Order: sequence, then C-alpha cells, then structure tokens
Amino acid sequence: MLTKLCLSLVSATSLIHAAAVGDPAASSFAGATASAVYPPPGASYGAEASYFPPASVVGYPGPTPTGDEAAAIETAPATSLMESVYPLTDPVPAGGETPDFEVIKYWGNLSPWYSVPAGAHGLPYASPQIPSGCSINQAHLLHRHGARYPTSGSGPANFAAKLHSVATTSGFKASGPLAFLATWEYRLGAEILTPFGREQMYDLGVGFRVKYGELLKGFTQLPVFRTTSEDRMINSALNFAAGFFGAQTFQEDYYQSIIIEEGGYNNTLAPSNACPTNNGPVGGIASTYENDWIAIYLTPALTRLSPYLPGVNLTVSDVYSMQQACAYETVALGFSEFCGLFTQAEWEGFEYSNGSDVSFWYNNGPGNPTSAAMGLGWVSELVARLTQTQPTEAFAETNATLNSNPATFPVNQPIYVDATHDTVISAILTTMNMTSFLRTGPLPTDHIPYDNSYIVSQISPFGSNLVGQVLSCPASNVSTHIRWILNDAVLPLTGIQGCPEDPNGLCALSTFISAYKQRIAEVDYNFDCYANYTVPVPDTIVTGQFPAALRNGTV
Ligand SMILES: *[C@@H]1O[C@H](CO)[C@@H](O)[C@H](O)[C@H]1NC(C)=O
Ligand SMILES: *[C@@H]1O[C@H](CO)[C@@H](O)[C@H](O)[C@H]1NC(C)=O
Ligand SMILES: *[C@@H]1O[C@H](CO)[C@@H](O)[C@H](O)[C@H]1NC(C)=O
Ligand SMILES: *[C@@H]1O[C@H](CO)[C@@H](O)[C@H](O)[C@H]1NC(C)=O
Ligand SMILES: *[C@@H]1O[C@H](CO)[C@@H](O)[C@H](O)[C@H]1NC(C)=O
Ligand SMILES: *[C@@H]1O[C@H](CO)[C@@H](O)[C@H](O)[C@H]1NC(C)=O
Ligand SMILES: *[C@@H]1O[C@H](CO)[C@@H](O)[C@H](O)[C@H]1NC(C)=O
Repeated sequence: MLTKLCLSLVSATSLIHAAAVGDPAASSFAGATASAVYPPPGASYGAEASYFPPASVVGYPGPTPTGDEAAAIETAPATSLMESVYPLTDPVPAGGETPDFEVIKYWGNLSPWYSVPAGAHGLPYASPQIPSGCSINQAHLLHRHGARYPTSGSGPANFAAKLHSVATTSGFKASGPLAFLATWEYRLGAEILTPFGREQMYDLGVGFRVKYGELLKGFTQLPVFRTTSEDRMINSALNFAAGFFGAQTFQEDYYQSIIIEEGGYNNTLAPSNACPTNNGPVGGIASTYENDWIAIYLTPALTRLSPYLPGVNLTVSDVYSMQQACAYETVALGFSEFCGLFTQAEWEGFEYSNGSDVSFWYNNGPGNPTSAAMGLGWVSELVARLTQTQPTEAFAETNATLNSNPATFPVNQPIYVDATHDTVISAILTTMNMTSFLRTGPLPTDHIPYDNSYIVSQISPFGSNLVGQVLSCPASNVSTHIRWILNDAVLPLTGIQGCPEDPNGLCALSTFISAYKQRIAEVDYNFDCYANYTVPVPDTIVTGQFPAALRNGTV
C-alpha cells in the first residue's frame, strides 16, 4: 500500500521533469551580473558645453514674484495621502489576490512607504492635520533613505552567483514559470539609491514644503539638515532638499551636515558602529527565529518550483532570495518576473520573515537588548532640540564635536530634518517607548499572529518618515503639546510616563520632556552595548533593554 503510494508520487514528479527535459538548455550567461554606467564610456560629452550657458548667463527669466509659504498641515481639511508607486508595476501574485491586497505592501523594509491606515496604531480618529484649536510651532522629521539596491552580499546576488555557476558548468533547464531564468541576468548594483528612491525623496521634500513650509518664516539663519556619509544617504538628503527648496537653488538654501558613517566614528543616525554588542552576535539574534519561519512558509513553494529548474538544487533559502529579488528588481527596474511566482499567502509570509517583521523585532526593535541604547543618542538630541539647550549627554554614538557647536547642531530651528536607516528608526521607536507596537507581544516564529502589531512595511519601509509636531493648544506662540506621526498614522504616547490617553495622540510638552529625560537615565547604554551577556531564549524582551533581573552573573 505504502509502496504503491510512493510510486505514484514519484511518477507524478517525473512527469513534470519529463516536460522540462524538452526545453532548451539555459544560456551560459544566466545569472551573470550586468551593469552600466552613465554617461556611457567613450561618449563625448561636455565638448559642446559652451553652447549651453546656464540660466544665470542667458537671463530673461520672466516675472518671478514669489507666493506665500504653504501650510497644508494646518489649512487643508484632510491630509493628502501617499498612495502612488509610479512608475513601478504593482505585481499580481500567483493564483490571484483578494480585492485589497497589494504585493508591494508585503515587502517589509523593502516596501516603498505609503500612508498607513489612520487607526494602524490604535488612534482611528486622529489625523496628521493639526487638531482644531492648535497651531504648529516646530516640526521634527526623521526619515529613512529612499529605495536602494540590495546591500552587499545579499540573497539575490548569491542566488544569481549559484545559477551562473551551474550555467557555466553542468548547465540547467528552465521551464514553465521559471523559463525566464534561462536568460535572466543580475542587473542590480549594491547599496546605492535607485531612480525610484530619488523620486521618493524628492516627493517627501515637496510634501514637507507644502505641509510645513510656513515654519520656514521662523528661521533666523539657514537651516541645518543632517544625513550620514554613505552614498545613498547623501543622495537621499540632496533629493529631499531639491524637492523641499527647489532644484535651482537648494545648494544655497540650507546647510547639509554629513556625519561620517564608518567603524570608529560616532554617529547617532548610524549608531551600530558604536555599540559593540549590537555590531556583534546580539545584533543578529533573529537569524535562528527567521530560519524557522522561512522553512515553514516557503517549503511548499520550493516543492512547487523545483521541478521547473532541473539541474539546479534549489533550497528554501534560494526561494527566499527569489522573493527578495522581486522586491529589489521592482524598486530598481520597475518590474520583476519573480513576483508572480508566489501566492498571496507566501507574500504575507515574506513580510513576516527575514529582513522583516521577525528580523526587525529581534534584531533592531523591542526584542533586542541593544535597541533602546541604539536610539538613545537621537532621543537625547531630540530633548536638546525641544529644550533649546546644546546637548550634554555623551554616549559613544554621539559626536560631541558636532553636537556641542551651535553651528553644526543648532537648537533653535522650527524644522529639523534627519536622514537615517531602517534599523535606526526601529531602534529609536523602541527608545521612545512607543508601546502600540507591543500590543501582540514578542513575535512567534511558527505562525503570523492575528492582527500583528509589528509590521515593518509600516515602520521602516523605503522613505519611512516619523514626524514630531510641536503644537500650541490653544493656538499661540508658546508650545504646549507634542505628538508623533509615523507614515501618516498618529502614534499613541500612552507608554510614556505621564502622557494621557488622547484621541489625537497629544501629550503635554513638559510631561513629554521630563519623561524622556527619565528614559535617557533608565537606559543603561554602557551595559547594553558593552557588557558580556547572552540573550535569553526564548527572548521575551519587549523594552529593547537587557532585563535588569538577569544581570547577575554577567559582566
Ligand atoms: C566627529 O565629526 C567630525 C566632523 O565630521 C569628524 O572630523 C570627527 O572625526 C568625528 N569624530 C568621531 C569620533 O566620530
Ligand atoms: C542540495 O541541497 C541540499 C540543501 O543544501 C543538500 O542537503 C543536498 O546535499 C544538495 N544535493 C545535491 C545533489 O547537491
Ligand atoms: C536571513 O537573513 C540573514 C541576514 O540578513 C541571512 O544571513 C540569512 O541567510 C537569511 N536566511 C535565509 C533563510 O535567507
Ligand atoms: C566618540 O565616542 C567615544 C566613545 O566610544 C568617546 O570616547 C569620544 O569622545 C567620542 N568622540 C566624539 C568626537 O564625540
Ligand atoms: C509671543 O508673542 C508675543 C506677542 O507677539 C511676544 O511678545 C512674545 O515674545 C512671543 N513669545 C515667544 C516665546 O516667542
Ligand atoms: C518606558 O516603558 C517601560 C515599560 O515598557 C516603563 O517601565 C518605563 O517607565 C517607561 N519609561 C518612561 C520614561 O516612560
Ligand atoms: C563572555 O563570556 C563567555 C562566557 O562566560 C566567555 O566565554 C567569553 O570569553 C566572554 N567574552 C568576553 C569578551 O569577555
């Protein structure tokens, strides 16, 4: 009986194999890396530059009267939401999708940011628009860079290398949904911003000008905005500024502070270099949890796809890389053949997985004992800005040379703009005690929790933006309240000592400042970043700090 069953399974499998055998062998360049530079090498450019004088030389600009600054965050009846992914193609999953499903929103930190539903964090009636009776005095923007290529040594690059190695040795055949792999090349670079990423930053800048431009009237010197030294960070900051100030003049309209991001340097916008435990094994504790989950949700896809690729020993990890390749190719090239290989449920699994919900929770969010420390430098800078005092706390991640100088770290700006990374936004929200993300608790690794409260595509997608609004209620020039908005959904501040439940997410400014001074005191940077400890398994930490009760026996 059993033998018979096995036999019939085998013959079903060999039928699929037989169908593939007739297909032509894959090209020898399958999986090879393709790249281009612009201008094309050898193109003669610049030779004719003298024929094209700049506008300042040509003159005749026509009338140029300026209008008033916009203040849509105060004046518009409703917030304009980010709903576009133009010019990307939103893919259709294998087997179709339910009406409201969009694959592109299930890519975790590889999703483009979008306005999340108003009630995402438990405040369904709150809007980013300034509550009636209040006025805005200050805006703090912390944003992630725009869409980028994979980081170095990523899954898709490894998958391409494996495919190419088979293509140039034993060869393989590709058929059915995987037929495209016979001539597929790896066309992604690494690390840098994609054209769509530029657009995201430019749009964020335009959006911020239209919403908060009025605040520019309060500047007494040119604004200082901050970013880090990585290429995509510079490119993000400049595109934001081009959108915010205008491409013709932005270089003269503000100062760009570029903080060095590299081992041995202190940088609150890239703090992991200054936190040895995070930079070491503690920063990667999620990998065991991730691999559990990936094996669970992707094994059926592995079984389904393998017969279409005889000659290649596909693993669950390769299939995972193919899901990543869908996201990366789409945000870089506008479209990807990989996307349609996976079902809606498999995309839901991807969102929950590696590089995403489980990964961020345990590596960079509430479940990692270094997260609160990692966000501490930025939170102390925030307190300095809110109290208009030059920062004094010195954590290893703080560059005191920059922060002690009012020229490089002004504390009197009506608008602050800081560019950072996904992992840092996730850490900072933990330091800020934003407890709405904890509602469904530490993330299980054998299933997706119902109504999961920790969704990375809504926390730190490409272009993610966290906005702090410092308000006067009633309207005046003396600030009385503060609230925080993440990707257009208002965050409740009820996890912060003294902040009441409020339908608009408001907390009294003085209460908020005292609570954060206490928060800075209650996070033990030196222990969490430098002590020799082991993270408990299972990891039930939700505070982003090493549990005080477990400190015995650690040094
Ligand atoms: C602090 O920033 C300054 C200015 O960029 C830089 O020269 C210095 O090396 C930095 N120091 C550290 C420790 O990061
Ligand atoms: C295929 O990959 C699996 C998982 O890595 C490995 O256990 C197996 O030995 C490989 N088989 C061949 C024929 O390479
Ligand atoms: C999960 O992510 C980590 C780090 O990004 C990587 O090293 C690991 O191989 C990934 N696991 C799988 C199954 O792809
Ligand atoms: C950078 O951090 C180190 C501690 O890791 C500290 O000793 C040093 O003074 C800091 N440098 C600056 C410029 O803040
Ligand atoms: C608020 O405005 C009043 C009247 O215009 C002015 O006297 C006062 O100095 C202002 N206060 C602040 C904190 O700007
Ligand atoms: C932050 O949250 C923790 C619980 O998660 C709480 O014990 C602590 O008092 C809070 N700190 C502040 C300053 O609100
Ligand atoms: C950390 O503790 C472990 C276990 O006690 C020990 O083997 C290791 O050498 C320690 N590492 C450091 C850097 O002290």
